[in-house]
Amino acid sequence: MDLVLCPSSPMLGKRVAESLGVKIAEVQYRKFPDGELYVRVLSEENSHILVGSLCSSEDIVLLNLLFDALKGEITAVIPYMGYARQDREFLKGEAVSIRAVAKMIEERAERVLTVNIHSNKAKEYFRKLMDLDAMPLIGEHFREREVVMVSPDKGSAERVKTAARFANCEWDWLEKRRIDAQTVEIAPKKLDVLGKTVVIVDDIISTGGTVVEAAKRLYELGAKRVETACIHAVLADFAAIKLFSSGISEITATDTVERIFSKISVAGLLKECILKAL
Ligand code: R5P
Repeated sequence: MDLVLCPSSPMLGKRVAESLGVKIAEVQYRKFPDGELYVRVLSEENSHILVGSLCSSEDIVLLNLLFDALKGEITAVIPYMGYARQDREFLKGEAVSIRAVAKMIEERAERVLTVNIHSNKAKEYFRKLMDLDAMPLIGEHFREREVVMVSPDKGSAERVKTAARFANCEWDWLEKRRIDAQTVEIAPKKLDVLGKTVVIVDDIISTGGTVVEAAKRLYELGAKRVETACIHAVLADFAAIKLFSSGISEITATDTVERIFSKISVAGLLKECILKAL
């Protein structure tokens, strides 16, 4: 058995390979002048663990090419499952992107591992998916510090509850309250943030818009310091600059998307699951 590193996850893939004691396969990636991608795998093994997040459309093409090039059994580890936010037909005629992605992966892979896929709905399109929860790791990271955790909306509340349990801190979510026909106020449901260090916790930070709005409100309510933590630091569209400009003091993320902010590794979590599954 060997481990195939995809261009989106070289560091995390290497960490997983080292923790499992599995060698890294020799793979060549190239891009032709017209933009076409090329993959060559030099492996004699008959069983492979492939590690690569879907951070871009190119990552999907590369994954498909790897599926073609690899011989034998594949365990597909997709730490960040991109395209999972388009998990239904919101407008008539739309592609359900994650359904198409799931079909492509499951046609070739024996088993599929991911970390905090965006929604339960997205999960429904897979039959072989193991969805791991990295929120306990986020919680443990903050355990020694005096913080409170806030979810930017009710949708992420359960995730933040888990992180807060492991951080051993108070938590809440931001609720929208209608004051009158023109005014909607956003505030923590119960928690008083005055003078506190608040960590806004979410599964994904993409454009940063959600966290920026939340941070603005938390400072208005008297928070002393606002940080943010997430599983998947997609950080599209100069999001990190937006976050820091809005007064966010620190960004903490896992390495499902490899960023300078990836202070927490999910390698151990993946290793445990792979050992159980194989
Ligand atoms: C929403 O359902 C997610 O949990 C995130 O809050 C959202 O994807 C963040 O997106 P953005 O950073 O673009 O506001």
